Amino acid sequence: MNTPQKAAAGASEVSFTLTDSRNGETIELPVLAGTEGPQVIDVRRLYAESGCFTYDPGYTSTGSCESRITFIDGDKGILLYRGHPIEELAEHAEYMEVCYLLLYGELPTQDQKDKFEKNITYHTMLHEQLAYFFRGFRRDSHPMAVMCGVVGALSAFYHDSTDISDPKHRMVASHRLIAKMPTIAAMAYKFSLGQPFVYPRNDLRYSENFMHMMFATPCEDYVVSPVLARAMRRILILHADHEQNASTSTVRLAGSSGANPFACIAAGIASLWGPAHGGANEAVLKMLEEIGSMDRIPEYVKRAKDKDDSFRLMGFGHRVYKNFDPRATVMQKTCHEVLGELGVNEPLLELAMELERIALEDDYFVEKKLYPNVDFYSGIILRAMGIPSSMFTVLFAVARTVGWVAQWNEMIEDPLQKIGRPRQLYTGPSQRPYVRIGDRE
Ligand code: SDX
Repeated sequence: MNTPQKAAAGASEVSFTLTDSRNGETIELPVLAGTEGPQVIDVRRLYAESGCFTYDPGYTSTGSCESRITFIDGDKGILLYRGHPIEELAEHAEYMEVCYLLLYGELPTQDQKDKFEKNITYHTMLHEQLAYFFRGFRRDSHPMAVMCGVVGALSAFYHDSTDISDPKHRMVASHRLIAKMPTIAAMAYKFSLGQPFVYPRNDLRYSENFMHMMFATPCEDYVVSPVLARAMRRILILHADHEQNASTSTVRLAGSSGANPFACIAAGIASLWGPAHGGANEAVLKMLEEIGSMDRIPEYVKRAKDKDDSFRLMGFGHRVYKNFDPRATVMQKTCHEVLGELGVNEPLLELAMELERIALEDDYFVEKKLYPNVDFYSGIILRAMGIPSSMFTVLFAVARTVGWVAQWNEMIEDPLQKIGRPRQLYTGPSQRPYVRIGDRE
């Protein structure tokens, strides 16, 4: 792994002066400027100089790190992987090129791509003993539960790539994770069907190999449709990385203690599973099926706006995007292409588009800047590709693994890196004595 020289964040002349009204003292906090996006107030000295913590539940205004990997402009609906617009990568790049770009910082030459792709291909097989882990799960286990368990178990198999201070170990662990996630994901799917596992094939490209392991059986040849492989490639690219989202921040925090890389990725999978995050794609399809018909859309839009109703429009809204999620725009276009090429008439697509139209004309969604996000259309495409909704978030995890490992490597290579250890605003009881059980009311 090339160890990029740390680009020290640009310290600007600008600073923030805080005045402590308790004693009239002032604190000067420097402002750091990046290459794009909001500047940051460096509060690292705040506690030492003021005795106060910052307070930001959900980290809505907090930068947790410096990163050179992905940039999002939520107001303009811009997403860049190492400076390259997501629209161009989704249109022109292969997934292996995007993996190389995210990991090493530059698009690969043909030779670099071929070497990288060969290395990934030759790591797609799992240690045969890992297959035994699947038998410990109930047949009806959610595939994400299986992914959490089996990916975590990888930490017990690869002792030759766990010295995280060794760049070579980190590169091997990173390649293994990118390579083996589709194999584990496909095995989780086959396990849920009661079908035999299908081994990876070295003559197939990443997306085709994944589809083949999912849908082939020993009984007959399975040829991957180029339409589906192209759609899979685009979906993998769109989901590959997304700055400091919940699951990536989970991987960084777990990794900051020096934990085993495979265990850190398992932690990321657990976080991604939540319906507020990567689980939303599965939730969108359930929501569309529950709405069922155009005439019921107003009822659900009304529920989504009702503070007393926990129902939310799944696939809508985003912590960062206050404009269209550029991935949703590409995803909707891909939806039409895939359904058209497959000759699938999917009523849920019409329903989704009408729901989007109504929501985007509604003051509530306009004022709160709630737009469709990456999950709003992905489920419709995946269902048309024959992938069950229980596997939607698994596919998201397969795609996001490269982002997780790229961010994990960047965190470890960061000379300022230390264990992540947030503080709190304590509102519990002040110190009080132990009371014997017989003396309690
Ligand atoms: C992903 O972070 C990432 O980058 C994530 C991701 C990635 O690639 O890693 O982009 C992938 O997780 C996409 C998001 C998938 N989740 C969903 O689609 C679930 C539905 N969306 C919401 O749960 C919500 O929009 C979040 C979780 C996505 C964002 O929540 P925030 O930023 O914490 O915003 P919020 O909950 O504070 O909402 C702001 C307001 C609230 O109203 P008020 O309290 O201000 O009156 O908007 C409302 C919310 O009630 N609101 C919604 C809504 N989303 C927010 N109301 C109805 N339906 C919704 N979907």
